[in-house]
Amino acid sequence: MESERLPLIVLATRRLLLREFLAEDEEALAPIFADREMMRFYPEPFTRERTRAWIARAMRLYRERGYGLWALIRRDDGLFLGDCGIVPQQIEGQELLEIGYHVRREQWGRGYATEAATACRDYAFANLGAPLVCSIVDPANHASQRVAERVHTARRMFHWERNNREMWLYSSERPVDSSDSPPGRAEGDIPSRTDARGPADAPAPNGPVRASEIRLRGLPQLP
Ligand SMILES: CC(C)(COP(=O)(O)OP(=O)(O)OC[C@H]1O[C@@H](n2cnc3c(N)ncnc32)[C@H](O)[C@@H]1OP(=O)(O)O)[C@@H](O)C(=O)NCCC(=O)NCCS
Repeated sequence: MESERLPLIVLATRRLLLREFLAEDEEALAPIFADREMMRFYPEPFTRERTRAWIARAMRLYRERGYGLWALIRRDDGLFLGDCGIVPQQIEGQELLEIGYHVRREQWGRGYATEAATACRDYAFANLGAPLVCSIVDPANHASQRVAERVHTARRMFHWERNNREMWLYSSERPVDSSDSPPGRAEGDIPSRTDARGPADAPAPNGPVRASEIRLRGLPQLP
């Protein structure tokens, strides 16, 4: 499988690049998605065909929406780490943009998912005009919850029709001034870790809340 074009780089962070998938990324992504521990919160590890379809869906979203899941690449040595990006999800009858992430197992715990997902959140606010972004997390997936706690500002339980289960819906709203300046947080707000090992961690969001109760933490309230 040879691609005729160079991949489009969408985002760069201090340590990472997010670029559009190419068909040949199947070689690197298939062993990651075939790992049983990695796919613990999916019904089963992905077959090669499923990984191919995953990449095809990402490429279709680029064409139709201009965003999707992107390949996650380490800048200093080009290591293929997994994926992170933005996908539309139907949640309680409305479409929300979800930030999703997968990092290859031997690279867990270095802050890569947090760094990439934070960049995707800010991209959705600044470049896609999203008023709100979310992440859907299995209640047993504690690593993903740690990531989502840093990226988002609120959470509540909801019933996800797609898997017929109760899931955490983490969310963050676009800061009021995000059209004037890039979204960011003031010193002392919820830490958004972008380093391998950040400072003390954010407290877990305060328990489940109803949709009407989702409110910003550490960011200015909308009038
Ligand atoms: C979730 C995932 C992407 C996190 O990637 P990562 O690069 O390791 O994430 P980070 O290093 O930014 O943060 C991981 C946090 O989870 C913690 N963590 C890791 N394994 C954990 C576990 N088994 N239980 C509890 N916390 C765990 C880490 O200690 C870290 O938190 P800390 O910095 O407060 O100590 C990675 O574990 C993964 O790919 N999992 C499988 C796919 C998946 O579940 N994706 C999310 C679907 S919603």
